[in-house]
Amino acid sequence: KIFLMTIIYILIIWEFQNAKTMIFAIEEINNNSNLLPGVSLGYKMYDACTSIHLSIKRALAPLNEPGEQPNQTCSRITPLHAVIGMSSTSYTQAVASVFQPFQIPQISYFSTCGCLSDKTKYPTLLRTVSSDFHQSRALAQLVKYFGWNWVGTVRTDNDYGNDGVAAFAQAAQEEGICIEYSVAITNGMTRQNYIKLITLIKQASAKVVLAFLPAVDMKAFLDQLVLENATGLQWVGNLSWMTKRLPVNIEYFKILGGAIGMALPNAIIPGLREYLLNVNPYRDAYSKEFWETTFACSLNTTDSLKVNKCTGSENLRNVNSEYTDEKEFRVPNCIYKAVYAVAHALHNLYTCKTDAISFLNFTTMYGDHVYFDVNGDPEPRYEIINWQQGEGGLIKYVTVGTYDPSSPQGQQIKMNNVPKSVCTESCVPGTRKAARKGQPVCCFDCIPCAEDEINALYCLPCPPDYKPNDQRNKCILKDIEFLSFGEIMGSLLVVISLFGACITMFIILVFFYYRDTPVVRANNSEISFLLLFSLSLCFLCSLTFIGQPSDWSCMLRHTAFGITFALCISCILAKTIVVLMAFRATLPGNNIMKWFGPSQQRLSVASFTLMQVLICLLWLILSPPFPYKNFKYYKERIILECDLGSSVAFYSVLGYIGFLSAICFILAFLARNLPDNFNEAKFITFSMLIFCAVWISFIPAYISSPGKYTVAVEIFAILASSFGLLFCIFAPKCYVIIFKPYKNTKKHLMGKMPSKSLMSATNLVSNGNNVYFSVT
Ligand SMILES: *[C@@H]1O[C@H](CO)[C@@H](O)[C@H](O)[C@H]1NC(C)=O
Ligand SMILES: *[C@@H]1O[C@H](CO)[C@@H](O)[C@H](O)[C@H]1NC(C)=O
Ligand SMILES: *[C@@H]1O[C@H](CO)[C@@H](O)[C@H](O)[C@H]1NC(C)=O
Ligand SMILES: *[C@@H]1O[C@H](CO)[C@@H](O)[C@H](O)[C@H]1NC(C)=O
Ligand SMILES: *[C@@H]1O[C@H](CO)[C@@H](O)[C@H](O)[C@H]1NC(C)=O
Ligand SMILES: *[C@@H]1O[C@H](CO)[C@@H](O)[C@H](O)[C@H]1NC(C)=O
Repeated sequence: KIFLMTIIYILIIWEFQNAKTMIFAIEEINNNSNLLPGVSLGYKMYDACTSIHLSIKRALAPLNEPGEQPNQTCSRITPLHAVIGMSSTSYTQAVASVFQPFQIPQISYFSTCGCLSDKTKYPTLLRTVSSDFHQSRALAQLVKYFGWNWVGTVRTDNDYGNDGVAAFAQAAQEEGICIEYSVAITNGMTRQNYIKLITLIKQASAKVVLAFLPAVDMKAFLDQLVLENATGLQWVGNLSWMTKRLPVNIEYFKILGGAIGMALPNAIIPGLREYLLNVNPYRDAYSKEFWETTFACSLNTTDSLKVNKCTGSENLRNVNSEYTDEKEFRVPNCIYKAVYAVAHALHNLYTCKTDAISFLNFTTMYGDHVYFDVNGDPEPRYEIINWQQGEGGLIKYVTVGTYDPSSPQGQQIKMNNVPKSVCTESCVPGTRKAARKGQPVCCFDCIPCAEDEINALYCLPCPPDYKPNDQRNKCILKDIEFLSFGEIMGSLLVVISLFGACITMFIILVFFYYRDTPVVRANNSEISFLLLFSLSLCFLCSLTFIGQPSDWSCMLRHTAFGITFALCISCILAKTIVVLMAFRATLPGNNIMKWFGPSQQRLSVASFTLMQVLICLLWLILSPPFPYKNFKYYKERIILECDLGSSVAFYSVLGYIGFLSAICFILAFLARNLPDNFNEAKFITFSMLIFCAVWISFIPAYISSPGKYTVAVEIFAILASSFGLLFCIFAPKCYVIIFKPYKNTKKHLMGKMPSKSLMSATNLVSNGNNVYFSVT
């Protein structure tokens, strides 16, 4: 038989509960055939009578007691293997000084002082309750969690109170919390002292007060607070008074209602409640006082003074007592673990498992993991308790959260059912607060944010590149819109423009192959080739409009367009002038070649084009086009477009092309009826008509809303006008060259002259490669 011992003050109900819990645990272990088989645990229980001196005396008793073999008093080994106790730190320290020299392990179940972690001072002391060091940190985290950064503290003026506040102050400083005042409650303070202290607390601006007080001091302090009507403060407490240590008193609730603080984790220990209910004062002498206190009756039948005699029919089940409140088995949980720790340690010793870890590491019946760190402290865990009003004026200790320092920083405090007290629920994302007239600030309406705004508290517009997400709580990047190569429309336009360029190349090849035939020669092959070349550039320049606009592509697209089209129209203009000159120059012997020979033609084409090049150069130098994010037209997407830089320059480029094509149209119109099988004037007139029609119809589309479709329309206009020019001017010639080769003779060209007079006046003048109609 092995003895455990506990030193307990049985007079107080909660210590009686602890004593019963210890006995329960010992019985449970003795009934368990797996733990310590063949060994039964015994116990001796002593009452320390709330006196440190008595507790030392009681601690010495088992050491001096004669053992079972009285003849060997000096040589016997004490059957005392461990001590469970005590609750208060000062008692634990006193008792530890007795057992330490004998190397008897002591496990405290409720001494929280951080000082007990010092293993040089307390090498044989362990505990199943977390050190205040962790509690101070937990309280700092809790205060921070609620955003209270300006607090006051009240402490007991002893080592524990001072250490507790110092540890809190350090943790608070790390969390950015400031302490406005720190006041101490000393033993034997007069009412006057209390009033001074309470006045200070009431006048301070910090409305959150942390009380680092044991239940006894807290009660004395509370009585004074009640007298001073010190309501309206938010109390944050340490575990000594948070749960059930204070008498139930509605006046206390007025002061402490809503208080929040730490408590030891509770555990439902199976069978414990039934066991606690099973109290027999007639059998167990130690439960007499408990019984008499609980039922306010006397068990002494011979005691004539006591009016109220216990009847024997009292039932604990009918008493609404903390003693049997399963929700408050916080300290019993600690003592239960302490007993099991001893049993497991002994078990390991008996089964020769002496490695340190298994020595101190086990799981309880209800699944709590118990181990001791190098300081003999358990894993720090707390429940966060909130004082709420229960039925019948009782105080309810509601668990609103947990503290677990092993969780990552910032998630150590976990809150669940925090009481709600709001006039209006906070606005959901996508809405904002709007004050209600004549009502307190807590009452408000939630007004939906504008379409491009986010945030719950006040609507916040997103930056221009961003739009709100569907939940309206974040800004996300807007989609950027431009005509890309990837999409169907983009790739279709690429195919069409490449197709146009290929046809142009094909016509160039045909013309080159038949370069010596009259049709090609009669139509001023040099200018024709230049025209074909510029047309293929026109087709290709539409490609610069597709893809994401960049600095370069923006500068390229309009200038390339302007210059290639200017070149193209200049060539056509030169052709038209040649035709017109050939038929209008009536002076005999006046050779057209003198007036508008190949070099003049080249020069005119070059100078007409150069004019456009100059305009474009000025444009690029003074105010070049640049990529531009257009936010104006759509809220949910950005149009990435090329800003013209200078619209005057852009309209000059367009206007110049328009000017050239207008001249060209007029001249061609004048020459349209001149006789000639291959009088190009008709075709040029026609092509200019198409050209102008396309560009005039393009303008309204361009001016209306921008976007990728406008760019597509612009490309479409480029392609359509290029195809128009290509087909009107070159299709008839190709037709003759390829399908009607018999018409491709000098004779045929000359023979079909409709007007005789003109025929005589017309000759074919050859000059190098070029053949012109000229007047002789
Ligand atoms: C231990 O076993 C005894 C006898 O079976 C029983 O009376 C007692 O209630 C048990 N104690 C516990 C704590 O299980
Ligand atoms: C102890 O001493 C008493 C008297 O001296 C003797 O009768 C008894 O047998 C002794 N017991 C043992 C276990 O030696
Ligand atoms: C709670 O109060 C008691 C009594 O003064 C003290 O011993 C303990 O250190 C306090 N707890 C904390 C976390 O400060
Ligand atoms: C507290 O309130 C009571 C009743 O309202 C009043 O009689 C008493 O004077 C108040 N005490 C203080 C200090 O204000
Ligand atoms: C009962 O009360 C009487 C008178 O007060 C006292 O003398 C006696 O010792 C008490 N008995 C017990 C068992 O406490
Ligand atoms: C407790 O023991 C188990 C297995 O024996 C081991 O996995 C676990 O890590 C130990 N825990 C601690 C905290 O030592």
